[in-house]
Amino acid sequence: MVDTKALILSGGKGTRLRPITHTSAKQLVPVANKPILFYGIEAIREAGITDIGIIVGDTAGEIKTAVGDGSKFGVTTTYIQQEAPLGLAHAVKIAQDFVGKDRFIVYLGDNLIIDGIKDFVHRFEANSPDCQILLAHVPNPENFGVAELSGDRVVKLVEKPKQPKTDLALVGVYMFDESVFEATDNIKPSWRDELEITDAIQYLIEKGSDVQFQIIGGWWKDTGKLEDMLEANRMLLERLTTRIDGEVDDKCKMDGVVIVEKGAKITNCTLRGPLVIGEGATITDSYIGPFTSINYGVEIRGSEIEHSIVLENSRIVNVGGRIESSLVGKNVLIEKRAKPPRAYRFMVGDYGQIELQ
Ligand code: G1P
Repeated sequence: MVDTKALILSGGKGTRLRPITHTSAKQLVPVANKPILFYGIEAIREAGITDIGIIVGDTAGEIKTAVGDGSKFGVTTTYIQQEAPLGLAHAVKIAQDFVGKDRFIVYLGDNLIIDGIKDFVHRFEANSPDCQILLAHVPNPENFGVAELSGDRVVKLVEKPKQPKTDLALVGVYMFDESVFEATDNIKPSWRDELEITDAIQYLIEKGSDVQFQIIGGWWKDTGKLEDMLEANRMLLERLTTRIDGEVDDKCKMDGVVIVEKGAKITNCTLRGPLVIGEGATITDSYIGPFTSINYGVEIRGSEIEHSIVLENSRIVNVGGRIESSLVGKNVLIEKRAKPPRAYRFMVGDYGQIELQ
């Protein structure tokens, strides 16, 4: 077997997920109660790659704490600090010492590929091209790197073109051999002042390198925004099976796939799955509807919520009306008080969003 390494890019500010990303790396926001980044590490491991370099930026500390030495995933990790967010190709460039002469996969830490990347990696190992890209048909190609093909050849890649020539977006998973380092050394920063991975591959194409592609069949998402997180949450919850390790009292009604982790206590509730309730959560006199992920230590009392993600240790108490399509951060309190005056009171982080009816 060819020695293949992996590079996971986990810098990036996650501006479209503020205020959550003021205090947390976007790659660590959980879907179905598991950080996005962990799905990537597991997919890489499943494809037979265990030597993983992780490029980190401002959120290095948090990512190191969450992933550690990789042993809980059966991999080894090497952290590579990117001093400034100078682009994906820059992240690859600073990993040259780690990669050495090996062939490697580059995986963007906020990408989620539901069927994994086994086929993609094996194909690269079997065919040994210089580079291999993964493409997906999307309705909004202008938001991605876009590929133009001719038969089985990639003829051109353009980063976020205003007028895309095709609907084939670059998925955030790439395979390279060491020739990419010549490209990362020679390309110039783009209009957004970043060294683009797309431009590095375009450099290889122009040089006549063997750049192959695969078009993804299954579901894929670049989870930068709230709607993407909720969609990813839906897709992942749908794949789970019922497991009750916590306490659910006999006044509760349950339908669909429901996961209740150990130490969670559910009293007098309607649970309509698919949903997951994390360790030590307390849910009382409430309705938890489909596509909802409640993280550990959360308390929900006298409230209704569906199609939402609630992060650890938050409290939702006596909220009249149903909460839906929401992402609630860590240690948040949402409460309806019984006493007058009837008024709204907020302490909301910068870039927070509140919608009232
Ligand atoms: C990056 C790449 C883009 C690719 C996308 C996939 O975009 O530059 O070519 O299509 O990831 O997630 P960014 O997230 O930096 O806007």
